[in-house]
Amino acid sequence: MQFKLTNQPLAELQADAVLGYVFEEGSQGAAVKAWGELTDNLAEELLARKEFKGVFQTSVVIHRPSGLKAERLILAGYGTREQGSNPRLRDCTGSTWRSLRSSGIKTLAVSLPDGIPEQEAIQAVLQGLLLSDYDPGVYKTSRKQESSLQTVLIAASNELQVVLDRTVAIVQAQNYARELANEPGNLLPPRVLAARVETMAQDCGLKSEVIWNEQLDELGMGALLGVARGSSEPPVLIIVQYQPENDTSQGKTHLGLVGKAVTFDTGGISLKPSPDMDLMKYDMAGGAATIGAMQAIAKLKPSIPVTAVIPSVENMPDGEAQRPGDVVTTRNGTTVEVLNTDAEGRLILADAMTYARELGCTQLVDAATLTGAIVVALGFEYSGLFSNNSQWQQQVMQASCLAGEKYWPMPIGEEYTKQLESPIADLANIGPRWGGAVTAAAFLEHFAEKTPWVHLDIAGTAWYEKTLPHAPKGPSGVGVRTMVELAMSLG
Ligand code: BES
Ligand code: MN
Ligand code: ZN
Repeated sequence: MQFKLTNQPLAELQADAVLGYVFEEGSQGAAVKAWGELTDNLAEELLARKEFKGVFQTSVVIHRPSGLKAERLILAGYGTREQGSNPRLRDCTGSTWRSLRSSGIKTLAVSLPDGIPEQEAIQAVLQGLLLSDYDPGVYKTSRKQESSLQTVLIAASNELQVVLDRTVAIVQAQNYARELANEPGNLLPPRVLAARVETMAQDCGLKSEVIWNEQLDELGMGALLGVARGSSEPPVLIIVQYQPENDTSQGKTHLGLVGKAVTFDTGGISLKPSPDMDLMKYDMAGGAATIGAMQAIAKLKPSIPVTAVIPSVENMPDGEAQRPGDVVTTRNGTTVEVLNTDAEGRLILADAMTYARELGCTQLVDAATLTGAIVVALGFEYSGLFSNNSQWQQQVMQASCLAGEKYWPMPIGEEYTKQLESPIADLANIGPRWGGAVTAAAFLEHFAEKTPWVHLDIAGTAWYEKTLPHAPKGPSGVGVRTMVELAMSLG
């Protein structure tokens, strides 16, 4: 797909369609008049007849508009201006494109709405277009839903090319993370995920390494190996590294991204109930987000090193599987009593976090579909954010605002750590019933040790359980944008 800025007049643009925006009555300003002039007053007439009122999530297509070279004019309803700018522009672009993506439009020109700074408008429009263009139906034998889109032209100043390139790199990385999270467990076991990451790394000029069985054993990663025991698929620790050409970090900043990649989570011997278990294929969404983030980071080239560490396993019940009550020893020497084999994410992350620290990471962010309890706490809108360092927490929060992702700060602390006491080992892998997202984070905190760390629990946000204006039901790619913005803000 190609993306270009253009300063040609709208009337002259050679495109299959021009996309423009119409605000709801009372707040539309000059735009509708302009559309009227280009359509032999058709746009104004539609409004006067109340056939199209500019309502959010409605749109109208005018064919052969008299004043345009383009074949069609698509008018997207924005709603009122009071309903906000960026997310609204993204969503109304997305919902409009979702209804048109299989209509044969190859070249789409976009006329930005007035009243929103161009830079922000470009970001929102591209997010809306690309996020809504994603289709999870990849294994349908006749993919009728294939998108036709090849070229996107945006009418805006040429100076904003950097903004355009950056936005495209980030949103495409987010879609790549969605593709990975969408893969079923049988087609994307840990070894296949590792192979896909190695190919991506090679294509983008990143260094990658995959650590397998015996080597994991030598490294003393007992927690990771314990979870993997019940599966015939071997576990892997995937490492992807970005090294800047002109490193400005002076050894002080080395961002570590750690992502949970359980390619399928049955719960193990503490087996999950059947309803919705199929969704546990997205239990690698945290890993997918870090992998996506690395792809964008390779393109955007921040001036600090970034290392992603992705522990990947399949959590299965079997004669060889880890039992409730088993004690394992993690890489940093902590002994853990595995009271529930379904609390496996924190086990594999423990070893991965230790390893990230050993690789020299000075600040950590982990992303994980870690607990059902975070969904009880926050629902599907906000991800939970936990940290052992308020300054680092603030930096990540700031990046998330720039990225337009929503995180809500959650507590950790001694009171919660105490709830992980075990009569036989240093820590138990679960606490009491209540506050499950917090005790899970408290468990991870132990393995961050003194390193500034932020934990993102994305269990409720990594999968849209229903279709949204700008995205189909399925993987969301949450985390990618924040991690990339964070890397860029550090150097
Ligand atoms: N992968 C799940 C968490 C999850 C739940 C992700 C729902 C996405 C949607 C995790 O491994 C898990 O099973 N957690 C348990 C922990 C419990 C045993 C303490 C949970 O949340 O029930
Ligand atoms: Mn689990
Ligand atoms: Zn899990």
